[in-house]
Amino acid sequence: MDKFNAPLFERLVEHAAGGHASLHVPGHKSGQGIDPAARPYYESLLRLDLTEITGLDDLHHPEEVILQAQQLAAECFGADETFFLINGSTVGNLAMIMSVCRRGDLLLVQRDVHKSVIHGLMLAGARAVFLNPEIDSETGMALGVRAETVRTALQKYPEAKGLLITRPGYYGGANALELIVQMLHEQGKPLMVDEAHGAHFGFHPALPKSALQCGADVVVQSTHKLLTAMTMGAMLHVQGELVDRKELKRYLTMLQSSSPSYPLMASLDLSRRQMHTEGMELLEQGIRIIDGFLEKMNQVDRFELLEPGANQGIQRDPFKVIIKDAQGRMSGFELKDALEARGCFVELADPQAVLLVFSLASTELDAGRIVEALKAIAEQAPQGTASSIAAAGESSTGRTASYAALTGMSEPVSFDEPMARQKGTAQVPLNDAIGMLSAEMIVPYPPGIPVLCPGERITAEIVDYLKQLIHMGGRIHGLIQGEQPMLAVVITPKEL
Ligand SMILES: Cc1ncc(COP(=O)(O)O)c(C=O)c1O
Repeated sequence: MDKFNAPLFERLVEHAAGGHASLHVPGHKSGQGIDPAARPYYESLLRLDLTEITGLDDLHHPEEVILQAQQLAAECFGADETFFLINGSTVGNLAMIMSVCRRGDLLLVQRDVHKSVIHGLMLAGARAVFLNPEIDSETGMALGVRAETVRTALQKYPEAKGLLITRPGYYGGANALELIVQMLHEQGKPLMVDEAHGAHFGFHPALPKSALQCGADVVVQSTHKLLTAMTMGAMLHVQGELVDRKELKRYLTMLQSSSPSYPLMASLDLSRRQMHTEGMELLEQGIRIIDGFLEKMNQVDRFELLEPGANQGIQRDPFKVIIKDAQGRMSGFELKDALEARGCFVELADPQAVLLVFSLASTELDAGRIVEALKAIAEQAPQGTASSIAAAGESSTGRTASYAALTGMSEPVSFDEPMARQKGTAQVPLNDAIGMLSAEMIVPYPPGIPVLCPGERITAEIVDYLKQLIHMGGRIHGLIQGEQPMLAVVITPKEL
């Protein structure tokens, strides 16, 4: 197989060019039947929107072009085997957890995970011990789990089936993994990595090593996020023998559609070919554009770059740029609104900053537009030194100190869904909730780390932390806010 080929894409194009009569699904018949208003946008793409007919293989039993495309992807990303995902990293996380955990099994899980990880634990009926990540003292942002925390957890819970982490974090920090891998492998346990935001890692010396390069056993990547596949296109990579691949395949078959989108799968094939053949050059070009942007941004002294973890030796993804108002007069949300009003749409905002996501596809033009928008905002926005964020009591150090008060890891939390469904829920004032089980995921922003998961015991420490955040005016998803903040708690039928 030749890395310059994109076997799945090429076969689709070949079939579409054949001018065959379509006597199979999909019903739009290569775009013939679509709404005329959609034609200018969809027409060419729908010619490739085919199905499992002769010559186009089958995602669930790949033997021809899909198998070849997946094998090329494994070679490109450094896996023993790669599976194409058509429901994003979401389905990869679900399958990864379900293939490793049976009902009641215990998994070590980094606390700041995407909700699909929690859903995977629920579907598996597993138990989790949540490991708190290290927090950056300046920004309050999460930096990944320390090797020391993993060591302690492995000693305390030798029965754990493995460890699941998120790397990089949403804000681009990528902690070192080698020691963590070594500790797990000494005990024959797998490291599972949600690398949704890191499909480009390892392709350029300025980027962190990929999780596979660090020795992880199963890795999920959203190829659509930082690379160029279509939205929902993702990959699951496996290496070594610590994870049962038959089980992985079984769950992927259960969880993924039996009619996967061919344009979507072909976009994975194309994205792989791009990285395989010119990844380094394209990333280099992207990094040059970002460097140029940062240089110009530095001249607008109103705005400051945040680099959480940079002083603690955490490597950062250069494609994630965090900007805040150095005078503290505009919150991240206000800055986001001001940028949008000038035609620049950002990935996310939090009380202190906005996150810009660049990629190998970013252009000088895009970078120039955001510089111009920042300059215009700097000229028009109120000047001064008083910090509206500090005025609201949201000092990042205060936030960090209180978060650090939370312990290094949780007690085991059960995600037994059928059991949970037999229970009711009730809303109780914060103080009364101490000692009860939370019925909701409670996530303060920032740092966007769930302090409570459904089924997790509510401690006095956590209630204190939530009260501090409320006092500071923080946003807390899952909390019922009002004059008397309430938490939804689990009630057994007897107590109802
Ligand atoms: C860390 C992380 N994992 C998993 C996902 C889910 O990925 P997808 O949208 O590809 O399903 C996301 C989505 O934002 C994410 O941020």
